Amino acid sequence: MVVRENLDFGLDQDIPRYWMGGDAFKTRFFDAMSTLFPVGERFFITSVREFRDQITDPKLAQEVKDFTRQEAQHSLVHRQYNDRLKAQGVAIDDITRDLEQSLFVDIPKVTNATQRVAATAALEHLTSMMCTCFFERRDLLAESDPRVRAMYAWHAIEEVEHKAVAYDVLVDVAKAGYLRRCIAMVSVSIGFPFTVGRILNHMLEVDGFSRWQRMKMWAKGLWWFWKPGGLFPPTLGYYFAYYKPGFHPWKQREMPSYGKWVENYAKTGDAIAAGNALHAAGQ
Ligand SMILES: [Fe+2]
Ligand SMILES: [Fe+2]
Repeated sequence: MVVRENLDFGLDQDIPRYWMGGDAFKTRFFDAMSTLFPVGERFFITSVREFRDQITDPKLAQEVKDFTRQEAQHSLVHRQYNDRLKAQGVAIDDITRDLEQSLFVDIPKVTNATQRVAATAALEHLTSMMCTCFFERRDLLAESDPRVRAMYAWHAIEEVEHKAVAYDVLVDVAKAGYLRRCIAMVSVSIGFPFTVGRILNHMLEVDGFSRWQRMKMWAKGLWWFWKPGGLFPPTLGYYFAYYKPGFHPWKQREMPSYGKWVENYAKTGDAIAAGNALHAAGQ
């Protein structure tokens, strides 16, 4: 796990509103996830650090520190990206306030620390699933703006690097059992898509699409998500592995092109070039 800081993705430059092949729905799906990252990743950090004092393994203690620093960098960069969305009229402040209320006020009232780190481990699995599976395929992000794609490539690399940290805290430190982690996965598998969908719809509304237009976009978008070979069916094996009793994040398939990004970034120091290299290495 490497903590990388001050990466430049050129986010202050003139990036097209629909950076994903000019497609509003596809772009706004990724944009909707971006709006959740700053507060969401702060929740992950808080949930893992609640167990800091109980960690006796020095390796895991160091991993928690590195995880914290990586997630803090992601929050920082996505906040910059979200400023662009705010300038486009997206209600970033409302989204942030609602999510803060939910994750830091409402949910802590009805959950304990183990349940919160269980939710974190489950969400980290969903994240590493998307990172691994989306970058395996060259077609998905082929027509994307290389700057935004590079931001996601860097985020993906680091999510893969720290994919087991929350899980190890959950199992080895919080001592959560099989049922606890499965219940958390079911909960986040409902809550996360619902939240992303609500924000995606808000964005399309801000973009000026009528209710009828949005319905058509949703129909087409759901087909893009779920058609054979679409966005999600190839991720299902990765997803369901979480429910296996002997599951561990490092038993999952590796991101095949991980080394390409690392090698290119070491050579060039250019996050956009490294993002291009990761994308080009896809199948
Ligand atoms: Fe992250
Ligand atoms: Fe993460």
